[in-house]
Amino acid sequence: MNAIEVNNVSKKFRTDGKEFYALKDVSLHVKDNEVLGLLGPNGSGKTTLMNIIIGLLTPDGGNVKLLGRDTSKFPEMTEKVGLVSTDARFHWALSVKDVFTFYGMVYGLKKRGREKRTSELVNFFGLEKLVNRRVDGLSTGERMRLSFAKALLNRPRILLLDEPTLGLDPHISIKLRREIKHINREFGTPMLLTSHYMSEVQQLANRVSFILQGRIMDTRKVRGQDLEKYFVKMVRRGSDED
Ligand SMILES: Nc1ncnc2c1ncn2[C@@H]1O[C@H](COP(=O)(O)OP(=O)(O)OP(=O)(O)O)[C@@H](O)[C@H]1O
Ligand SMILES: [Mg+2]
Repeated sequence: MNAIEVNNVSKKFRTDGKEFYALKDVSLHVKDNEVLGLLGPNGSGKTTLMNIIIGLLTPDGGNVKLLGRDTSKFPEMTEKVGLVSTDARFHWALSVKDVFTFYGMVYGLKKRGREKRTSELVNFFGLEKLVNRRVDGLSTGERMRLSFAKALLNRPRILLLDEPTLGLDPHISIKLRREIKHINREFGTPMLLTSHYMSEVQQLANRVSFILQGRIMDTRKVRGQDLEKYFVKMVRRGSDED
């Protein structure tokens, strides 16, 4: 069974009175145990697709299946997915500790389990000195670490990683990539990963799909590919087809 199945998904946005397709007839799947890298230039639709998969946006056409179940019929399936994203926003008045408590409660974790998991994650992400800090006083990297920790709070069955190391210093990026690999190996957690760091995708993904202007152009295995060359080639191919 595929962990994630995206079938013919389209999404239109309206800007300045004009409609355009941010996603057009997108289909892809992520197998169980697999990390699929989603590559594409800025504005090609990667974050929009992640938001559709997790149920933050509704598609105009097509459907998403998580662990074999259509999320339009079983919206609770989206609770099995953790999203790590630079877009993560927390209410400014919450402290780091409040974020863990709040989401722990949302995920239905009991007090003891919530506190144990919080302390594991606080240690892992080096947030010890920040637990009482309000989130509006965090740096980009600190907020990203909090977003990652929050996404792991309920040990999600599937992970969506939208540029998970953007803005992080090399020390924490290396640690995070190691952890992503560990989670995937140890628990077989399937992941959909976007990143503009080709070495990150090379290191973590088994296959890549390339998206351009909301359309999937190609999917292939990562092994043996020079992803930087591949990226440039795909963008050129797209402009030749225009
Ligand atoms: N809420 C919205 N309303 C209107 N247009 C939107 C909205 N969200 C995204 N878009 C547009 O849809 C397109 C796809 O955006 P998206 O954020 O999915 O791109 P992306 O591939 O994640 O880019 P990046 O690599 O820069 O993160 C862009 O043209 C963007 O401007
Ligand atoms: Mg994006």
